Amino acid sequence: MLNDLREKMKEIDPERLPRHVAIIMDGNGRWAESHALGRVMGHRKGAESVRVAVKTCRELGIRYLTLYAFSTENWNRPQTEVSALLKLLGEYLDNEVQGLMDQDIRLAAVGCLESLGESVLAKLREATARTAGNQSMVLNLALSYGGRDELTAAVNRMVADALAGKLAPQAITQESVAGYLYTAGMPDPDLLIRTGGECRISNFLLWQMAYTEFYFTEVLWPDFRESHLLKAVAEYQRRERRFGMTSGQIRK
Ligand code: FPP
Repeated sequence: MLNDLREKMKEIDPERLPRHVAIIMDGNGRWAESHALGRVMGHRKGAESVRVAVKTCRELGIRYLTLYAFSTENWNRPQTEVSALLKLLGEYLDNEVQGLMDQDIRLAAVGCLESLGESVLAKLREATARTAGNQSMVLNLALSYGGRDELTAAVNRMVADALAGKLAPQAITQESVAGYLYTAGMPDPDLLIRTGGECRISNFLLWQMAYTEFYFTEVLWPDFRESHLLKAVAEYQRRERRFGMTSGQIRK
């Protein structure tokens, strides 16, 4: 197992790491079902995989890791599951911030954060403030996040600024739009990993993923370990990113 991991590490070129990895952590429910457990136990097990993914990315030298922890659509799940997910998030913030400090990781969050409720929001504010000076990696949690919701909020704010005379409509550029998104200031993801076998993006980072490389795996999120992440990064490094240009232009 360890040898296998060392082999995989050797496959990775530290000079061509994705700067930003985003993950859709899918399959907790199916993992729980296959172990004859309730769905919430799947999410609990999934929180362990979060710890592993954060540590592995940090050790590899990836600068941004964005995790899709709770979508705007997830509010439509049964109330008991929604409450359990929010509770789990609160526990994560209570228990993991010291670990983030030890690893020099800054915590950030994107989404309609006000809707998470005062208790989680207060923990989130405290954790982001405490880790604000950390430099080695950004762990960005997408919470109550939806790509269309983000774009709608951005348009609303842009119109308000235009009406207030703070934004000249004729001067709107792709860069200024990006500055109105929840992810303002962060680079776009280079690599998206989705576990659980589904091949869709589920309203995640719609603007930001215009040129992201997609990697889909059947592995269920609670089973996702270091070796799976390394395999995804190795596959990413085998891709040629052309950004609409030709191979000849890229290789020059
Ligand atoms: C999707 O699996 C997963 C979620 C909706 C929640 C993700 C949450 C965690 C991994 C744990 C908490 C996170 C943090 C940051 C502490 P699913 O329930 O849709 O799985 P299924 O498709 O198999 O039903």
